[in-house]
Amino acid sequence: MPQDILISPSILAADFARLGEEIAAIDAAGADWIHCDVMDGHFVPNVSFGADVIRAIRPLTAKTFDVHLMIAPVDLYLEAFAKAGADIITVHAEAGPHLDRSLQAIRALGKKAGVSLCPATPEGAIQYVLDRIDLVLVMTVNPGFGGQSFLGSQLEKIRRIQSMIGGRPIRLQVDGGITHDTAAAAAAAGADVLVAGSAVFRGKSRSDYAGNIAAIRTAAQDGRAGDILRASAAG
Ligand code: DX5
Ligand code: ZN
Repeated sequence: MPQDILISPSILAADFARLGEEIAAIDAAGADWIHCDVMDGHFVPNVSFGADVIRAIRPLTAKTFDVHLMIAPVDLYLEAFAKAGADIITVHAEAGPHLDRSLQAIRALGKKAGVSLCPATPEGAIQYVLDRIDLVLVMTVNPGFGGQSFLGSQLEKIRRIQSMIGGRPIRLQVDGGITHDTAAAAAAAGADVLVAGSAVFRGKSRSDYAGNIAAIRTAAQDGRAGDILRASAAG
């Protein structure tokens, strides 16, 4: 039984001058999780925000905080993000030599553990940590910036990871270039959590956010349903 499709808006695309109002707006607009993109200017060529900002916005919503750490080294900072209110902490497989240790540390802090893979990283990177993770994040752009184009090359990787996950309770997340156009293909390949930044926060006013989230969700559900139909037609 596939898991429900979840939408996790990335606040990287929010208006930072009104960040609190933006969190309240996406909460009311139907966001399932809140995706927090943390960038260090070292692992990725951009700097965003850190644990203090996450702590400040934590009281504004009860939704799951899905914290994507694009930082290296990472282990030193895990406790700060856990204390700031992260529910899921995702680290990059490429961020250090001891992924297994980082994942153990996240679970020891009482948080769900995720692993993210950059576009050039093969799925084998997670083969021996599957029992330590709650989420796999397949990057469908090179991390660092919002507003980039979806890399179709990652669809095959998503399919392979879905089959590696098998019946385990692991979420399969995609991040980068997700719009109502690309959501269908990502979900058909097996993604069940879709991160979207610019496609959620676009529009003339905050009243557009609910429609943007609904359009991505519907496209993803249609993509998954189409895939199930095609599979059954193929016998
Ligand atoms: C990129 C970030 C993404 C990004 C997505 O490094 O991890 O979460 O904000 O933005 P869009 O949806 O605009 O590609
Ligand atoms: Zn992200």
